[in-house]
Amino acid sequence: MLLAPSILSADFSQLKNEVDKIREADLIHVDVMDGHFVPNISFGAAVMKSLCGKTNLPFDVHLMIENPDKYLEDFVTDQTQYICVHQETCPHLDRTLKHIKEQGVKAAVALNPSTPLTMIEEVLSQVDMVLIMSVNPGFGGQKFIESSVEKVRKLDDIRREKGYDFLIEVDGGVNLDNAPLLIDAGTDILVAGSAVFKANNIEETVKAFKKHTR
Ligand code: DX5
Ligand code: ZN
Repeated sequence: MLLAPSILSADFSQLKNEVDKIREADLIHVDVMDGHFVPNISFGAAVMKSLCGKTNLPFDVHLMIENPDKYLEDFVTDQTQYICVHQETCPHLDRTLKHIKEQGVKAAVALNPSTPLTMIEEVLSQVDMVLIMSVNPGFGGQKFIESSVEKVRKLDDIRREKGYDFLIEVDGGVNLDNAPLLIDAGTDILVAGSAVFKANNIEETVKAFKKHTR
């Protein structure tokens, strides 16, 4: 089980210090928002790249942007492990996933809470990870949508039935209380923004998550 704290909830004025505190996590979740696909603007590739070499954790890039094909190469670095695009932004999803893989990066696809799993059925054999959004994307600190647990369970069933090997990531409103439920349903990667970076003690919170995930 892997923990991916989202730097969206970190103190941007001291990003390097903030990532130092999550050393015991597994990935850094990078939330990129364009103010079009989602009603908020976060940061772009330059901010992510400023962390290259400043942390050992790989980047888990979550592109909440329209026309991701146009920008995804900007996010390819030695530290980039996953690039995730939203199904809702990709009319030619098969091509976009291939484009990501051509960069030597793992390809992932995200689904909004209202998008059914059937929308990605045809590409499940070629993705390295599926991100199930458990809030409507756009902001950190929102309330977890409970029906996401069932969606994860369904996806885990499909994975088992078909023998696929993608990982399942859950993003939005994840905290120490709902983590066990999500893990039980089949989640491999937990994204946590405010639960980690707004905690009184960030290091201890990361440890507490990792205990849950064992
Ligand atoms: C939401 C982002 C999430 C967000 C998670 O649009 O994709 O990654 O930062 O933040 P929390 O954990 O606070 O919901
Ligand atoms: Zn995210």
